[in-house]
Amino acid sequence: MYKIAVIPGDGIGKEVMEATLHVLEAIDVDLHYSFADAGDEYAEKTGVALPQETIDVVKESQACLFGAAGESAADVIVKLRQELDLYVNLRPVKSYPGANSIFDNLDFVIVRENTEGLYIGREEYTEEGATALRVITRKASEKICRFAFEYAKKTGRSKVTAVHKANVLKKTDGLFKEIFYKIAQDYPDMELDDRYVDATAMFFITKPEMFDIIVTTNLFGDILSDEGAGLVGGLGLIPSANIGEKTGLFEPVRGSAPGHAGKGTANPSAMILSAVMMLDYLEENEAARKLENALIEVLREGRAVTRDLGGNSSTMELAQEVRRKLEK
Ligand code: NAI
Ligand code: MG
Repeated sequence: MYKIAVIPGDGIGKEVMEATLHVLEAIDVDLHYSFADAGDEYAEKTGVALPQETIDVVKESQACLFGAAGESAADVIVKLRQELDLYVNLRPVKSYPGANSIFDNLDFVIVRENTEGLYIGREEYTEEGATALRVITRKASEKICRFAFEYAKKTGRSKVTAVHKANVLKKTDGLFKEIFYKIAQDYPDMELDDRYVDATAMFFITKPEMFDIIVTTNLFGDILSDEGAGLVGGLGLIPSANIGEKTGLFEPVRGSAPGHAGKGTANPSAMILSAVMMLDYLEENEAARKLENALIEVLREGRAVTRDLGGNSSTMELAQEVRRKLEK
């Protein structure tokens, strides 16, 4: 039995979560849900976007499914990442059938450091303008590089590429690169590569098949992962994982999509794929593959898909079709 925190949140978060839980009922893994509040709507009622009870529920759970936050995203999701020290942001760049992809054969993963770099928020105004501090610690770099290699090993991948700009950022990225090669010594079977971030941005467009696992610092990972999402088409399809030592939080890459909220038109696939990532994290890999394959079948058939994928089915109709495949 797994204890799972469930935060539907705002807008389409609620609908895609309901659809995903409906699908998960057909999976042979014992999930016990604790529902928790967060987001704009909750803040309107109570004045707080992320109550302490919700943080506690997530802390006491083995994993968390997160739908979406609206305008309060910074106070909700960014705060949860910090409070729970979710130091890995894992974002797959994977083509699915029926999506409006630029490439239809991609399958690589960006492992992004999620706690430091330029995103620590230490900015200040100076006489000349403003400065931001970029912090790269040995500890966080070792942790993220080790995670990348372990993840590569566990998922049967063969190559890890470090992405940096060590030619200009000689100390910070010099250190990151040095640590990458130091950690790599523990993984002698892994193919290694390191590249500059600017060149990497170009290779995403010209030769994305060259990547398998990318490990990089916070800002570069943020930018590259959105570029990666663009390669495989559609915010309705892209899941992500935030992983720490004690728990993981799984969420679609997009927000609350207010234009779709309450209409039953949102694509639930990104949320379902976030649940797939959660099952893999819980090492329920067989259930994860079953769920992912059921969704792929529905996407490939293209009959019961939402409008963003060219169909006219509702959020729940897509989910019901996935469930039918699972029960077959
Ligand atoms: P968004 O990701 O909610 O939507 C962007 C576009 O993608 C919209 O045109 C939307 O209709 C479409 N889209 C997104 N998900 C879809 C789905 N499942 N099916 C069909 N179409 C889909 O981003 P936007 O509009 O910039 O922001 C809306 C709200 O979400 C804002 O309040 C923002 O602060 C919040 N937000 C929250 C995030 C989080 O909770 N992690 C992340 C990003 C934004
Ligand atoms: Mg981003």
